[in-house]
Amino acid sequence: MIEIQNLKKEYLTKHARHVALKGINLKIQDGQVFGIIGKSGAGKSTLIRCINLLEAPSEGHILINGEDITKLSNEKLRKARQKIGMIFQHFNLLSSRTVYDNISFPLELQHVSKDKIHTKVNELLTLVGLDQKARSYPDELSGGQKQRVAIARALASEPVALLCDEATSALDPETTDQILTLLKRLNKELNLTIILITHEMDVIRKICDQVAIIDEGEIQETGTVTELFLSPKTAIAKSFTENSMHLKLPEEIQSKLYNDPYQAEHLSPVIKMTFLGDSITTPVIAELNSKFKVSCNIIQANIERIQAQSVGITICHMLGEKDNWEKALGFLHQQQIKIEVIGYATINAF
Ligand SMILES: Nc1ncnc2c1ncn2[C@@H]1O[C@H](COP(=O)(O)OP(=O)(O)OP(=O)(O)O)[C@@H](O)[C@H]1O
Ligand SMILES: [Mg+2]
Repeated sequence: MIEIQNLKKEYLTKHARHVALKGINLKIQDGQVFGIIGKSGAGKSTLIRCINLLEAPSEGHILINGEDITKLSNEKLRKARQKIGMIFQHFNLLSSRTVYDNISFPLELQHVSKDKIHTKVNELLTLVGLDQKARSYPDELSGGQKQRVAIARALASEPVALLCDEATSALDPETTDQILTLLKRLNKELNLTIILITHEMDVIRKICDQVAIIDEGEIQETGTVTELFLSPKTAIAKSFTENSMHLKLPEEIQSKLYNDPYQAEHLSPVIKMTFLGDSITTPVIAELNSKFKVSCNIIQANIERIQAQSVGITICHMLGEKDNWEKALGFLHQQQIKIEVIGYATINAF
């Protein structure tokens, strides 16, 4: 387990003092893919660089399997660092070395024998799907291939955790998917803990188990990825998830919504239904009609994926007498569906 306790980081420049991390507390369990998301300047890179002490924390502790690495001597710290691999947005490969020699580099620094290096590098090349590229130079590779080399190099010392700082931000969507799939496979096959920072919710949605949202150097919200998507609590979590799930209501719909049912005549609720897995809203909507004489005008519907799970989101306008839709709402709240009234609209609004 990786534990971050009360981590603070202050940058002092000639003219200013900037507090980049204001007391971060996080626990990352073994084998998790843990995502940290935040806007530009939120402190993500600072945080991930403090985890392997590439950046010295101003205060706080980093515990790896119970050992506080902020207290280690330089020699011991060097050893501890080998157990945490890292990959970057711009790959950071050595351009004068071949793919093979890039991957072997950390092992050479540890004075591992040539034979062992040979076996290990070939194993890693196969693992990341680059057997054919051993003798190529980084300049001769695509972005996705370069990131595969970086991943293989990071895994050479058999780390317990891999830190990824915007590892897919320089890649196109298809290559991003391939790298994320590779990371997930490594997570499963090697039980590798992955800490991944990104400003893209789609990355979190595809491979993370757990997520923390950071803003202005503070953690705003943490939880499982499903929890975060289905019930975001903070404004920043809502904005990240809405953008990723294409939930932002178009302006022409938003402009027709009233905040309460008495603001105009004959208003009825517009609701958002979110449901997990294969449960489908159609039977529920049919029941509203037969039980309560309430019909539903579907304004927007989509199915999204969170990891391997499907999540359906339907926005619909309930039409019927007030007494009836009130009962229907009560009924909906008892179903296995998350219901949120997002406003009220007149009968012919949509
Ligand atoms: N070496 C430094 N000296 C002074 N200030 C710094 C230094 N590194 C980062 N900062 C400041 O700390 C804050 C957090 O920076 P950080 O690089 O951690 O953000 P980030 O979340 O990774 O952003 P991005 O998504 O743009 O990479 C920023 O305001 C930044 O200007
Ligand atoms: Mg950064």
